[in-house]
Amino acid sequence: MSTPIDPTTTPAWGELSSLRESFSPDLRGWFAADPGRVERLTFPLADLHVDLSKNLVTDEILASLLRLAEQTRVAEHAAAMFAGEHINTTEDRAVLHTALRRPAGAAPALVVDGQDVDADVQSVLTALTDFADRVRSGQWLGVTGKKVQTVVNIGIGGSDLGPVMVYEALTPYADAGIEARFVSNIDPYDLAHTTEGLDPETTLFIVASKTFTTLETLTNARLAREWLWAGLSASGAIDGSDASRTDAVAHHFVAVSTALDKVAAFGIDPANAFGFWDWVGGRYSVDSAIGLSLAIALGPDAFRELLAGFHAVDEHFRTTPPAANVPLLMGLLNVWYTNFLGAQSHAVLPYAQQLHRFAAYLQQLTMESNGKSVRWDGSPVTTDTGEVFWGEPGTNGQHAFYQLIHQGTRLIPADFIAFVNPAYPLEDDGRDVHGLFLANFLAQTKALAFGKTAEEVEAEGTAGALVAARTFAGNRPTTSIFADSLTPRVLGELIALYEHITFTQGVVWGVNSFDQWGVELGKQLALQIAPAIEGDDAAVAAQDASTRALLAYYKEHRRG
Ligand code: F6P
Repeated sequence: MSTPIDPTTTPAWGELSSLRESFSPDLRGWFAADPGRVERLTFPLADLHVDLSKNLVTDEILASLLRLAEQTRVAEHAAAMFAGEHINTTEDRAVLHTALRRPAGAAPALVVDGQDVDADVQSVLTALTDFADRVRSGQWLGVTGKKVQTVVNIGIGGSDLGPVMVYEALTPYADAGIEARFVSNIDPYDLAHTTEGLDPETTLFIVASKTFTTLETLTNARLAREWLWAGLSASGAIDGSDASRTDAVAHHFVAVSTALDKVAAFGIDPANAFGFWDWVGGRYSVDSAIGLSLAIALGPDAFRELLAGFHAVDEHFRTTPPAANVPLLMGLLNVWYTNFLGAQSHAVLPYAQQLHRFAAYLQQLTMESNGKSVRWDGSPVTTDTGEVFWGEPGTNGQHAFYQLIHQGTRLIPADFIAFVNPAYPLEDDGRDVHGLFLANFLAQTKALAFGKTAEEVEAEGTAGALVAARTFAGNRPTTSIFADSLTPRVLGELIALYEHITFTQGVVWGVNSFDQWGVELGKQLALQIAPAIEGDDAAVAAQDASTRALLAYYKEHRRG
């Protein structure tokens, strides 16, 4: 991996700095003076229709941003990623989530570090979809011979957020009468609440952990195993002997991991485990065997469609010239907002209730990837990095935080995502409710872009101090992403879009978007503090004054 280029030393950065100095956004004026703006700034991206016209950029700024991409070598780094070079420098690993969605028989075959990656991927995918078919058709049965009705995925971070987000988004595709549930938090409420009402005889647990060392996941897996044994023993389904317990685990537990030896040590038959590889980052793994719960609940066809959607966007990112390359352009716009216009956060606002976990998913993807202060050679970054991603579906957000986006003092670029056709077409008194929903999407992006002037407010009869309160400055940037409907393929396209936006920003900033050392310290300290919680005086004494005081409060109030 080459030395990162300091973006601030590039000629393009200089151009953007001077453009910033004289910058005066005027979306109203730009739209009025330039009838071709919308057409010029609207792009097809596989099945997505992406309108960038309401962003705070001129052609001149975009041209400089594209030069910045060239001068920081985004395209070369993308090529290195697709080819399997070890661009994850701190872990000396290739970064090949894009290989997970290459179609069978793609040519030329992808061989990395002497390994036929395509063959490996296809072999796990076949095993995964075969298994999913067996569960769905009732060939795979619980220990008492009953068909699986619920799969419970136990995982956290990338081993949870992707599956839960996709499942929620595509529930209308769940066609086998199998529900998926998800346990992630070590808060015991999560496991207890999620298993409530489930029948152990018809429940299949998937323990999903890339490393199979994650404290939360292994703890929850053990709790789930106890829940299974207790339930089956209580109903007389097993006799409680060691052999019967082993048999129960064999019928009700499968695993997904890169560490199949650790899976076996937990007591899960490696024959019931699905592997993946160290070149798949946790937050990039929903398209690996980590998606097993999806293949079961939504079906292998839907899962393969999801992968096809990812691949379509990979190909777009890999082959489309920069000026029409949507992930590249959106990544560059984020750089413009973050580094030149001072934006600290970025909202993602789906007009689709099914995408209610999309922002949470993107938080790991973007913030674990680009929340870095050092570059890939260990030197400090030279710019701000990693903006805060957040969001909620519209219209709920409209009645919560949109006020700040419309009239607050902060610049918050926002992506609006909407679908022409709903999953559930319903009418209210003869009116198409989805149409009303979409009117809100269009109204919000319009209001944010063009605002409402004092003259317009006055023309409506408002006077005095109220005029200012009712005025909207406009020039609040948005991107509109529109698609026909929320299908598995379209969802794959959306996820891949944000993966490559994140990649683009990471390369410009010179950070390794594929490690996450920042989560380690907290994990280590939790292990050190656990004995203090359990009452070990020496462990308590070893803590700082604030932690000691909090432990004292805990001891005083702990019941049982
Ligand atoms: O939060 C850190 C992290 O390593 C994530 O990157 C990962 O997705 C998550 O923990 C879970 O890790 P694993 O899949 O190994 O249990």
